[in-house]
Amino acid sequence: MADIKVKRHIGPKDLAALSQLLSAAAESDSHPPLGEHAWLDLVQGGREGFAGLVAFEPSHPHPVGYAQLSRGDNPGDGAGEGLQWALELVVDPHHRVPGSTVARDLLRNALELVAKEGGGHLHLWANQPSPVQDRLAASVGLSPGRVLYQMRRPLPAEEKATISTRPFRLGDDEEAWLEVNNRAFARHPEQGGWTAKTLKARQSQPWFDPRGFLLYEEEGRLAGFCWTKVHGQGASRVGEIYVVAVDPDFAGRGLGRELTLAGLSYLSGEGIAEAMLYVDATNIRAVKTYVDLGFVVNHIDRAYTADVPPAPFPPAPSRIAPA
Ligand SMILES: CC(C)(COP(=O)(O)OP(=O)(O)OC[C@H]1O[C@@H](n2cnc3c(N)ncnc32)[C@H](O)[C@@H]1OP(=O)(O)O)[C@@H](O)C(=O)NCCC(=O)NCCS
Repeated sequence: MADIKVKRHIGPKDLAALSQLLSAAAESDSHPPLGEHAWLDLVQGGREGFAGLVAFEPSHPHPVGYAQLSRGDNPGDGAGEGLQWALELVVDPHHRVPGSTVARDLLRNALELVAKEGGGHLHLWANQPSPVQDRLAASVGLSPGRVLYQMRRPLPAEEKATISTRPFRLGDDEEAWLEVNNRAFARHPEQGGWTAKTLKARQSQPWFDPRGFLLYEEEGRLAGFCWTKVHGQGASRVGEIYVVAVDPDFAGRGLGRELTLAGLSYLSGEGIAEAMLYVDATNIRAVKTYVDLGFVVNHIDRAYTADVPPAPFPPAPSRIAPA
């Protein structure tokens, strides 16, 4: 059984050790093991509700696995109802051997922690989940939940946008952008409820380039936007349609398609030959927009979810009173 240490704050030494583990996993899986929200939370030391669970095994000086728990901003009702938790999990590629309990031990400990802190709805994202991950999730009581499509298409696109967009102006556009984003993504677990701080953290990332953050206005009002993000270097660069949204007051006119076309033009203008995006499989308008623009599903990611009751955990089995 792995020895699990729970860290409420990640200092420079822990961060160095975890960064090595995360890099090894990213290289082996060709995919970053933590989502962007979680990674930023980790490098910034962990915000309120953060817990980093670090797994060690005897005779290994370095961590062999890591799980990161983040509590959503909704304070809940005090009985776990309404509390949202996001969990991320990574095991050192050298320790992914048959019989290893590192992943299960991390998940169990994380679920116990959620229960102790009032319970709530938890989701764990898995990239291109296999039956192994399905079984692991089921073994700790997590059920298959939301599906995210990763879609791709070659560039350039044959069609051009008929609307005119302009780049985001730092220091000017934040307030209007936050309003449109939060209206368009109301109730969205990751993209909704952004604050000036959330936006600033993204804008401070090395990949951020306001030239690829395109805004569309009508009569002086922000109606929608397409934010792009470039991954990789040189010829292997891939351009992501990172976030696209239309203010609900302007919905139903196909502006999502126009904004996506504007983003695709920007990316191909940068010399990028492939576009990519993530979209929730149940987001019918967005999926339809992207399919119509020639995007096809490359792979899926899946969330495993559970409604965790408040501690004691697991719920005590009901006893049959002796006759
Ligand atoms: C996705 C989004 C940008 C699309 O905005 P839009 O261009 O105004 O969308 P529309 O209402 O014109 O719908 C797009 C297409 O979906 C179709 N559609 C809408 N509702 C539908 C439904 N329930 N079933 C099937 N098709 C539907 C529309 O008919 C339209 O297709 P068409 O062009 O062939 O007529 C917008 O819905 C949005 O901002 N959503 C919130 C943010 C988001 O989810 N962004 C994408 C993920 S990053």
